[in-house]
Amino acid sequence: MCGIVCYIGKDKAMPILIEGLKKLEYRGYDSAGLAIQDGNHIDCYRSVGKITELEKKTNDLEINGTSGIAHTRWATHGEPSERNAHPQTDVREDIFVVHNGIIENYISIKRKMEKAGITFRSDTDTEVLAHLIALNFDGDLNEAVRKTMSSVEGTFGMAVVHKTVPGEIVVARRGSPLIIGVGEEGNFAASDVAAMARYTNEVVHLNDNELATITKKDFHISTAQAKTITRHAETVEWETEDAELNGFPHFMLKEIFEQPETIRNAMRGRLEKSEGVPKLGGIMPVWDRLKECRHMVIVGCGTSYYAGCVGRYIFERLTEIDVEVELASEFRYRKLNFPPNTFVVSLSQSGETADTLAAIREARRKGAHVIGIVNVVGSSIARETEAGIYNHAGLEIGVASTKMFVSQLTILTLLALLLGRHHNLSLTDGMEAIRELEDLPDKVRKILSEANHIQSIAEKYYRYSNWLFLGRQYGYPIAMEGALKMKEVSYIHAEGYPAGEMKHGPIALINPDMPTVAIVPRDSMCDKMINNIQEIKSRRGPVIAIVTEGDGNLKEMVDDVIEIPATLDFLYPILAVIPCQLLAYYSARFLKRDIDRPRNLAKSVTVE
Ligand code: G6P
Repeated sequence: MCGIVCYIGKDKAMPILIEGLKKLEYRGYDSAGLAIQDGNHIDCYRSVGKITELEKKTNDLEINGTSGIAHTRWATHGEPSERNAHPQTDVREDIFVVHNGIIENYISIKRKMEKAGITFRSDTDTEVLAHLIALNFDGDLNEAVRKTMSSVEGTFGMAVVHKTVPGEIVVARRGSPLIIGVGEEGNFAASDVAAMARYTNEVVHLNDNELATITKKDFHISTAQAKTITRHAETVEWETEDAELNGFPHFMLKEIFEQPETIRNAMRGRLEKSEGVPKLGGIMPVWDRLKECRHMVIVGCGTSYYAGCVGRYIFERLTEIDVEVELASEFRYRKLNFPPNTFVVSLSQSGETADTLAAIREARRKGAHVIGIVNVVGSSIARETEAGIYNHAGLEIGVASTKMFVSQLTILTLLALLLGRHHNLSLTDGMEAIRELEDLPDKVRKILSEANHIQSIAEKYYRYSNWLFLGRQYGYPIAMEGALKMKEVSYIHAEGYPAGEMKHGPIALINPDMPTVAIVPRDSMCDKMINNIQEIKSRRGPVIAIVTEGDGNLKEMVDDVIEIPATLDFLYPILAVIPCQLLAYYSARFLKRDIDRPRNLAKSVTVE
């Protein structure tokens, strides 16, 4: 979703901001803009479409200012257009503001302002911020932003500059991420480390209801109540390679191929082979309570939610814990009534998804313990959970999440194994699970070596406009995730369904024009899945089956087969999802879709 990057230093701001915006492109956006300050003068440029449009507009101009704010917008209030792009400004064009999040009471503020004679130039909620800051300004920009914070409801990460205050950028946060970057030759602020990673990996996180004044050499943080905060920079691990394609045509494909390493990274240093038990240092602060836990709720959104759905089956298989899984967007509005010592496990790649964040806040309010499985170190969810486990999966840029899913499944398995060993899982079972986990990267590599075969299947079917994905038990969430991937990147309509529900509706759709992807590994559900396949075949529906190597009898029954190596029942999802990802990717490629930036989608959904 929307992204912010700001710079103030000794170099020209323009190229630094444009480069920063390009690094934020992966989050999803439809327009962009920036404001550069040069002495008592601010130049503002905005454009619709890609950052290259903004570049074209500014390429031949002499823009020397060394401080500025920039933004990628993902439209929420008002269509994508130049007048709705950020920065937004006040009547006198003194103040320029970029904003992520939603000002929920903007309509009432706007009405009052219109009555007072202010003419609005955009349809955005953000414009009220510019007018409010202008009205509150009497020479001190920080103070004007602070006063404004108290009169707006909703969420914001914002950055503000004022014509008469050169040498200062004021940033503020409530609900939307904002990080200060401390560089040698200047300072930064951004919604995402990616935007400034080339210049610095020394970052300071702003907390909710804090603001900061950033200058060339320094930064000062305070709370909305004007209390000064002293916070030192932390170093974030950052592989610049993560942000490069390294010869792959798309980040999605690169990240699919990174998965053997992703699984290894999730397990690195965490396996005690001889004890058949993982070591998870991050949850030790809550271990005394966690080991007694008998009720757990897993929450997440999108792909993270489907990882949670697989997690439930893994926990049921390995532990004595009752597990519920819920979409964070629903969970946050439920009347929650937790049994004592309930643990809520939040799954999130970005650690910033608004609904997941709200869900964990509600869970804490209602007395649950909250832990996180998060990829982005220092993100809001990482900081607001009592303890957690990092994925260490590196940056995921493709909007359609791939490597994060297998990483989340790997970590959920480790957590379940740790708890299971504490309950009644035997040493032999623990050791076997660890052995099989260690073999997974090679098994994934083997599936990836069949990518051409999967591409040829995608070529055969990509013109079909409706697909069905079916699975049972562990395979059911994989069917859901497979269908989600297909929708996200190829825009083909796909339904993920539990195969047992076929007869209650979806079977009516089966005909020769609707391919079904059946997840049929050799597990306890295999025979039942075969019955479903026969029902589809007798209605002349094409079937692509994802099967365990050597299951020859299935080959004769279906139209196309993709083989995955054998593993333990609860580890099959990690293997079975890979062909689904590749089917979606290649179908999208045949359809010439914008795979890394699918329409209307955002990588990090920071508004409700
Ligand atoms: C967006 C992304 C998905 C992601 C979901 C949850 O919809 O496009 O790929 O699965 O958000 O994101 P999170 O960062 O919380 O895992």
